[in-house]
Amino acid sequence: MNHSIIGAGAMGRAVARRLALAGETVLLADRDHGAAWRVAAEVSDGAAGLVVPADVATALVADLIVLALPHRESLLLAAVEHRRLAGKVVVDVANPADGSGAGAGGPGGARTPMAAGMPAVMGAPMATVAPLATRTPTAVSAAELLAAAIPEASVVKAFNTTGASVLYAGELDGVLLDVFVASDDEDAKLAVIELVNRAGLRGFDMGRLANARGLEQLASLSDELQDRLGLNHCAGFKFLPCW
Ligand SMILES: NC(=O)c1ccc[n+]([C@@H]2O[C@H](COP(=O)([O-])OP(=O)(O)OC[C@H]3O[C@@H](n4cnc5c(N)ncnc54)[C@H](OP(=O)(O)O)[C@@H]3O)[C@@H](O)[C@H]2O)c1
Repeated sequence: MNHSIIGAGAMGRAVARRLALAGETVLLADRDHGAAWRVAAEVSDGAAGLVVPADVATALVADLIVLALPHRESLLLAAVEHRRLAGKVVVDVANPADGSGAGAGGPGGARTPMAAGMPAVMGAPMATVAPLATRTPTAVSAAELLAAAIPEASVVKAFNTTGASVLYAGELDGVLLDVFVASDDEDAKLAVIELVNRAGLRGFDMGRLANARGLEQLASLSDELQDRLGLNHCAGFKFLPCW
């Protein structure tokens, strides 16, 4: 399975670095081609693997595509490219409540693809879904909205509860990072968990895609806590099971 990342910002850079250090070859695309080139060179430095800059169309050819984009941009891309995304594993890292992408129904948010006639989610027309761009519990997750826009793809929620800077470093105070992974497609979820583990992190199976609601709320809670503590996306969660 070959991989690509679309979005060469903080999260794209961090995921690309982890994969490069794990010896993977991965395509990295951004609408700013120069940014993709710069970040690809930076994250490949000293790594066993290789991050190759690409345009978005080329990145869409990969079997497993990480959308490291604001939620709104992921939805717009899905609306335009749903045919090319059919049959692909699409990893959604978005946290709509972080202000990076104005959530469903939020200002400039998912109303555009809704208006373009995207499918209803969970029996409710998408236009009636409550705004996600608030720090309140939501009826539906960004990941489910994305899955509704690309029904022939396998959407997997991952990486959203880990700050980009700690993800880039791969550890926090010497502690291995956990990445929570949710999807309705068991094979796709397993593929992402295996990739996460190869990347030197610990992947956890968080069950069905609807559990992305909890994961996005967890990230929202983390953001609020980070605001209080004056942190800057430098935090992650650790699950401590009694095996
Ligand atoms: N940062 C974190 O710590 C963190 C943690 C967990 C989850 N997340 C989630 O990760 C996602 C990305 O966050 P980020 O912090 O990495 O954002 P970011 O730094 O703004 O990076 C996003 C990148 O994607 C590019 N882009 C936007 N739309 C595009 C499109 N249609 N095609 C190609 N490239 C496009 C942006 O270009 P422009 O600059 O031109 O817009 C930018 O370079 C968000 O959904 C966020 O909620 C972030």
